[in-house]
Amino acid sequence: MRMSLGVARANRSRKSQKLLSPGSRNARILAVAAQKGGVGKTTTAVSIASAWSRLHGLHVLVVDLDPQANVSISVRSQILANRGGGALSDVLENEKRLEVAEIAAETKVDGFHVTPMDPGLQHFEDRMVSRIGKELILRKALEVTRTHYDAIVIDCPPHIGGLTVNALVAADQVLVPTSLAALSVSGVTGLLEAADEVQSTLNPQLEVAGVLLTRVDGRSTRVNASVLDMLEDSFGALVLPQHIGVDNALARAQLAGEDIFEFAPSSRAAGWYGDLATQLADTLGLPGRVT
Ligand SMILES: Nc1ncnc2c1ncn2[C@@H]1O[C@H](COP(=O)(O)OP(=O)(O)OP(=O)(O)O)[C@@H](O)[C@H]1O
Ligand SMILES: [Mg+2]
Repeated sequence: MRMSLGVARANRSRKSQKLLSPGSRNARILAVAAQKGGVGKTTTAVSIASAWSRLHGLHVLVVDLDPQANVSISVRSQILANRGGGALSDVLENEKRLEVAEIAAETKVDGFHVTPMDPGLQHFEDRMVSRIGKELILRKALEVTRTHYDAIVIDCPPHIGGLTVNALVAADQVLVPTSLAALSVSGVTGLLEAADEVQSTLNPQLEVAGVLLTRVDGRSTRVNASVLDMLEDSFGALVLPQHIGVDNALARAQLAGEDIFEFAPSSRAAGWYGDLATQLADTLGLPGRVT
């Protein structure tokens, strides 16, 4: 009896803290995840999110869940100001003290926001192991934030640890980029198995948006064809028809701290990612163009 009173009191005092009021949107959440490094996760997360803001007029938040903080680095020249400031790991650590939306940075693209870089996420991932309900932390932290956006894109670290599992539990869909290198391809199975496990336990509505082939080198047609056959044998219709080729404009854009639509809007990469964003908007059920 005493214990339940104590719990009630704790909840009451939490509720009395000032929280962000709910908005009128209901974001669909896409996690971009792969077990391997350097397969284009960050490039894909940033490019899709930017396309949804620029070309579809949507309010989009990129959650940089990778302690390497590559999202903020990738768009650093476009970041305007931190509204609330603060680290994502602090928001996750202290649950409802601040909302993720309150720490997000605005960019010069209307409606395109990113969470600030946070190397502290590494420490958070190590410490969260002992937390009760550790897989649900991000999902809860996005409950109000998702009412302020049409879409949230989560850029995951290159392994299946506590942070990636949190992203899978929070997401409506997961997109799995892979290059055609054998080692990258072998990581797809592990990620899809993790998604399957999360779907059958903590997040029954999780769907696979698809396996996205990145850095497809148009010159290696024989290698491409055999890896593609293998991928289609293993993953069938999960392999997306839209591929991302090799375009060094993407690497140069990242160096310049700009997304591809700012840096090289007429590049081949801008075309591929623009088309991909439109296809994924459809699969994810995002609202139609509003501008
Ligand atoms: N299609 C592409 N063509 C050419 N370069 C690319 C392409 N996609 C990504 N790159 C470059 O490859 C590098 C790795 O890409 P990115 O950072 O998106 O991968 P990642 O999977 O997020 O890596 P990490 O696992 O380290 O987070 C970057 O320098 C990026 O600019
Ligand atoms: Mg990355």
